[in-house]
Amino acid sequence: MDFSTKLNALVARTETALDRLVPALPADAPAGPARLHAAMRHSLQAGGKRLRPVLALAAAELGGPEHIEAALPAAIALECVHTYSLIHDDLPCMDDDDLRRGRPTCHRAFDEATALLAGDALLTEAFVILAQTYAARPALAAALIRELADAANARRLIGGQMQDLLAERAAGENIPPATSAELEYIHLNKTAAMLEASLVCGGLVAGLAPAALETLRRAGRHLGLAFQIVDDVLDASAATAELGKTAGKDARDGKATYVSLHGLDRARELAAEATAQARAALAELPGDPTFLLALADRMLTRRN
Ligand code: IPE
Ligand code: IPE
Ligand code: MG
Ligand code: MG
Ligand code: MG
Repeated sequence: MDFSTKLNALVARTETALDRLVPALPADAPAGPARLHAAMRHSLQAGGKRLRPVLALAAAELGGPEHIEAALPAAIALECVHTYSLIHDDLPCMDDDDLRRGRPTCHRAFDEATALLAGDALLTEAFVILAQTYAARPALAAALIRELADAANARRLIGGQMQDLLAERAAGENIPPATSAELEYIHLNKTAAMLEASLVCGGLVAGLAPAALETLRRAGRHLGLAFQIVDDVLDASAATAELGKTAGKDARDGKATYVSLHGLDRARELAAEATAQARAALAELPGDPTFLLALADRMLTRRN
């Protein structure tokens, strides 16, 4: 199977599992929170790239194709946490964005309070999915819950988001620009943490040995750094229609990005370097890493 066929197949399996595992009340549910469920699905089913699920499924497959099915709930839990982070990232009190995944952002399509709650609900639902679907394998359930919680916690995803906001420099504001170490912290945590967790969760489901899990973690760290650098580059160089989110916003908001600190050309080089480091780690993995290597390349050359 060539790379694109396989990628499309993994995305399709993710979409089907999403629909199955995430709760949905009918719009006319007499007393239930149908509006909340609609808001969750508005953001969740808007056709993101599904990168985190695909990473988890591909890592699980390193232990054999039979592990893909078992990794699907973990993949969905990762996508729920990711989507929650996007909904909150877009809120007026954070990045204040109107467009996400080619649709109005959750708070635009609904309202701020609903978007806040939809994010809260997706975060919680992720752990419900892990606890319920892996209940028959308690050690695995505990390991997955710990892995996802560690990635989403106050030091990692949320800590990175906090530092991202603090590093914003409004026009005329007299605060020094973020240093390259501060910027690396932001990217390694707001973004790379979830990519690491995606690969590791896949490896956990497949029962890979601790050394392989650490290699996955290292690969995810480099891949995640590259991914956020490319996100910064695309914000500065791609069009809104291509991105499905507002282009050119980082500069307007005085965000600390690889482009603002290093310039576009150097940012592109740094993304390529981080991708090369990710590839070197992936090549050490047991099983056949061909798909993951091609995915690393695709993530570097993506246009959205
Ligand atoms: C956007 O993530 C936020 C970042 C961490 C850069 P993605 O670029 O993976 O967004 P979707 O899931 O495809 O919408
Ligand atoms: C967001 O980074 C990272 C998370 C959502 C955790 P950005 O703010 O750069 O993401 P986009 O560009 O809005 O997708
Ligand atoms: Mg942000
Ligand atoms: Mg943003
Ligand atoms: Mg961005």
